Amino acid sequence: MKKTIYVAMSADLIHPGHLNILKVAAKYGEVTVGVLTDKAIASYKRLPFMAYEQRKTIVENLKGVERVIPQDTLDYVPNLLKLRPDYVVHGDDWKEGVQKKTRQRVIDTLKEWGGELIEPTYTPGISSTKLNRALKEVGTTPEVRLKRLRRLLEAKDVVRVMEAHSGLTGLIVEKTSVKKEGQLLEFDAMWLSSLTDSTNKGKPDIEVVDVTSRMNTINDILETTTKPIIYDGDSGGIPEHFAYTVRTLERMGISAVIIEDKTGLKKNSLFDSDDLQKQDSIENICHKIQTGKKSQITEDFMIIARIESLNLGMGVEDALERAEAYIQAGADGIMIHSKEKEPVMLFEFCDRFTAFEQKVPLVAVPSTYSHITEKELSEKGISIVIYANHLLRSAYPVMEQTARSILEHQRAKEADEHCMPIKEIISLIT
Ligand code: SPV
Ligand code: MG
Repeated sequence: MKKTIYVAMSADLIHPGHLNILKVAAKYGEVTVGVLTDKAIASYKRLPFMAYEQRKTIVENLKGVERVIPQDTLDYVPNLLKLRPDYVVHGDDWKEGVQKKTRQRVIDTLKEWGGELIEPTYTPGISSTKLNRALKEVGTTPEVRLKRLRRLLEAKDVVRVMEAHSGLTGLIVEKTSVKKEGQLLEFDAMWLSSLTDSTNKGKPDIEVVDVTSRMNTINDILETTTKPIIYDGDSGGIPEHFAYTVRTLERMGISAVIIEDKTGLKKNSLFDSDDLQKQDSIENICHKIQTGKKSQITEDFMIIARIESLNLGMGVEDALERAEAYIQAGADGIMIHSKEKEPVMLFEFCDRFTAFEQKVPLVAVPSTYSHITEKELSEKGISIVIYANHLLRSAYPVMEQTARSILEHQRAKEADEHCMPIKEIISLIT
């Protein structure tokens, strides 16, 4: 009987190394390739450029491949138990480093039926990491970027979003990463906050920075990044205007807009004021959502409705009633906003939301309840966590300190300790 071989790969950027593995594998018998799903890849690094179906199509057409199946985890074991292959083939580069444990589990599992691991020498001079870097320089297209948020929602328990308000802060969100326990931690997407965009322009967060001006900020960010963008649409304006905003955002490759259910002069929700802002009627907001949904061209663009009931003293009951109505009207997600220090009402909302028949992704903004972790929010059913203002809030105090120091000492030496070296700033953007 023909021997069976199992090979697993992400296959986002096929290079000669992959072909070599398949060539070796095919010599032993019939090759099944487990293509890692978006979910499996997102569990330890950035989402691949191509979606699973696209990667699957490519691998199916490679020489020596008999069939392709999905591998849903980084761990090979579930698929190995299903297939009980005679051999697994993998490059010998995984003997050291983060994949060491995965490799050991393959060896241990194969032993159960006398299977064997074959490890051809790793093809030097080519690496997915290098190709990935090159691809990032090429950039992205509006369509690819737009679709990415829905793919992230499919692939990850929680989508981690950081605000950006300029090309430079966009770059920080794009590039910053931390390695922790074999995982590469990054932000998944950017939040185009009205608060930080307005503040950065020296204006209050009251919709005085108009859509055209906000688009200029977006343009700067689009030019320096590839990650998906969620646009803070404030109240969305009147429905007729909102329809245009949706079209514009879609054309630019923005993945989602969030509109809040306020009317009249919109102020920032974290503002502590006695003259409470007015919440719009359910009917009006539903009409606005419907108008937006009708005007969008792609299937992928998302209109997320933001509920202000918890901030405006209307309580959880009202928030739930609105959530249900907004979803009925076509909302692709619900942002449940709260400025509680302990998110008691927010969590009650989340608990009761689980009983909804028609569910959509929930979005939270942990600004006032910053001690709550992403994991805790995710366990409550939150799918998108937005750090809405943290880059600007951390930059401003240091800039002010520098300005004060120079005034005080009438020279810049004392301020140097707050500054990055000149050598670094001139080569920061290459
Ligand atoms: C923003 O970032 O502008 C927001 C979120 O709308 S919040 O500031 O929390 O209202
Ligand atoms: Mg805002």
